[in-house]
Amino acid sequence: MLKKISFFISSFFLLWLIVAAIPPFQNTGIKVSIQRGEKVYNKVCLPCHMADGGGAPNMNPPLIQTSYILGDKTKLISIVLHGMTDRVAINGDYYSNNMAPHNDLTDQQIADVLTFARNSFGNKASAVMPVEVKSVRSKKQ
Ligand code: HEC
Repeated sequence: MLKKISFFISSFFLLWLIVAAIPPFQNTGIKVSIQRGEKVYNKVCLPCHMADGGGAPNMNPPLIQTSYILGDKTKLISIVLHGMTDRVAINGDYYSNNMAPHNDLTDQQIADVLTFARNSFGNKASAVMPVEVKSVRSKKQ
């Protein structure tokens, strides 16, 4: 009887350990991705969208709390992969310059840079995973 109880307690303890260990691991994953993403951002996106994500009014839109940055990940990934040529109003300013495609970046680099952007400049949104980029890349536009 005592053995049974101690077995139960120890298996619950083990289960708790496993469950408790998952969130910190995920956290490290997103942190590392953000760190890598910052490097990609500084090299590729910063000249247009600026170090603070503020962009340049009427030329390059900001990445601060925009519906694109915080919104649908498929659309967001597609902007980086295929570029953007719409005339859009963002925070009251119009943008009609084109953004070139960045499909030379790897799935990992695009996932990292978008995870960085979605968690910087005052933004808070879920991570973008390389498999999500892969899936958008494989679809015909
Ligand atoms: C040569 C300048 C340039 C570079 C480099 C560039 N962009 Fe853009 N980006 C633009 C312009 C211009 C637009 C608006 C296009 C339009 O109006 O159709 C835009 C639009 C966007 C948008 C959607 C609008 C918004 O503000 O939310 C996102 C998101 C975005 N870019 C992210 C990125 C990321 C991430 C990178 C780096 C991988 C990057 N851009 C690199 C110029 C650039």
